[in-house]
Amino acid sequence: MAEVTVVLGLNYGDEGKGKVSTFLADKCDIALRCTGGNNAGHTVIINGNKIVFHLIPSGIVNNGTDAVIGNGVVIDPKVLFEEIDVLKKHNVDLSKLHISTRAHLIFPYHIVEDNLQEKLKEDDKVGTTARGIGPCYMDKANRIGLRVIDMYSDSFEKKLRRNIKNKNKVFKLFDFDTLNEEEIVKDYLKYRDMMKPYVCDTVSYLHKAIEENKRIVCEGAQATGLDMDLGDYPMVTSSNPTIGGIQTGSGLGAKDITNVYGVCKAYASRVGEGPFITEQVNEIGDKIRELGHEYGATTKRPRRCGWMDLVALKYAVRVNGITGLALNHLDTIGKLGKTKLCVGYKLNNKIYDEYSDDIIGFENEVEPIYEEFETTFDIQGETDYKKLPKEAKKYIERIEKHLGVPIKFIGTGPDNENIIIR
Ligand code: GDP
Ligand code: IMO
Ligand code: MG
Repeated sequence: MAEVTVVLGLNYGDEGKGKVSTFLADKCDIALRCTGGNNAGHTVIINGNKIVFHLIPSGIVNNGTDAVIGNGVVIDPKVLFEEIDVLKKHNVDLSKLHISTRAHLIFPYHIVEDNLQEKLKEDDKVGTTARGIGPCYMDKANRIGLRVIDMYSDSFEKKLRRNIKNKNKVFKLFDFDTLNEEEIVKDYLKYRDMMKPYVCDTVSYLHKAIEENKRIVCEGAQATGLDMDLGDYPMVTSSNPTIGGIQTGSGLGAKDITNVYGVCKAYASRVGEGPFITEQVNEIGDKIRELGHEYGATTKRPRRCGWMDLVALKYAVRVNGITGLALNHLDTIGKLGKTKLCVGYKLNNKIYDEYSDDIIGFENEVEPIYEEFETTFDIQGETDYKKLPKEAKKYIERIEKHLGVPIKFIGTGPDNENIIIR
């Protein structure tokens, strides 16, 4: 039987999706990315070697695992080829990489637009990664986007020049520097040739793989809280990192999906602006950041840190149809001594133990209801659940009770081997 295992972020990103996906890909034939672009930064540590993936599914590092960049991903070719160079240095076989004909391309004007739009938002900035992601998806929705397949059409140069001219007019209007049309055209004609060996009708490729009983792992990017429809709009990314994005971003059908694993940390973090009900803007937040090395894998920004939020997680479990959880950084809370877990919200004297629209716009007024746990343990690198101290098990069981989903994987360190399978 074919198997499709989906790995999704349940919070605000950076839950350790890369680590869990590479681990699962070891037993899979194909590693797949379906959404987002190089706003993602997925850290993988294998045999002491650290690699940060932005576009290519991290499972490619396993011999024998093919990699697919699906149609829902937005590709900055410059970043793609930088990543390919890094992987070549790690002796990864790149002939296994397949890039969708339908994936949209990021152009330098998208990056300028990302900065311009943030500036125009004044006090309502999203704090984007400034990688041109939002503007690229905007052009896709506006039907002026250019896809990988379009590069091989006779009209590509004409359309690209038209887009650059139109964007430059807007940049001039807002006193932004205009872009050099000739340079962009030259670069993208070069990328067209460089990308050719990888280009593939990935929808057909994936369906053939299903017919051949292959095992596929889909590496989600971003997370539920950043979902354009189901997250904290407008403080979100411009795609659907939830389960729906996996289907529209790959062409896989609903019945093809076997398992949906949700990844979270034993605490919580967020980069960029937006609500974060359990955030700790104090020495506890600073301590979590230092112990968990919470600095952006893409932008190097310090991540905002706080406690795990079971109300938000329950919502994420529901909207994604999560069948199992991966809980990372259990080792990190073992260094904290005491850890709080948010089990409910209080707003206007009303208690909420599950997410409600009543909260929208009142996040700063919500009072989180916490339970406190003793967490003094050294479990670095542990791989046997039986050997976990009872305080650690108590924390895990409390989470499972609230969420109603089993925790199948437990992270006990940054290395790919630092994982407990239950
Ligand atoms: P992703 O974007 O979801 O793939 O996550 P990132 O790579 O951006 O951030 C996760 C960070 O946590 C990385 O630095 C990982 O190396 C690290 N990490 C993942 N799991 C664990 C764990 O169980 N323990 C510790 N200490 N670090 C972990
Ligand atoms: P991974 O896959 C954490 C955040 C940005 C910003 C918002 C919009 O590594 O978990 P964008 O550039 O997408 O328009 O920014 O989304 N963001 C992420 N935060 N991890 C990510 O990816 C993110 N991708 C985008 O910080 O708040
Ligand atoms: Mg990340």
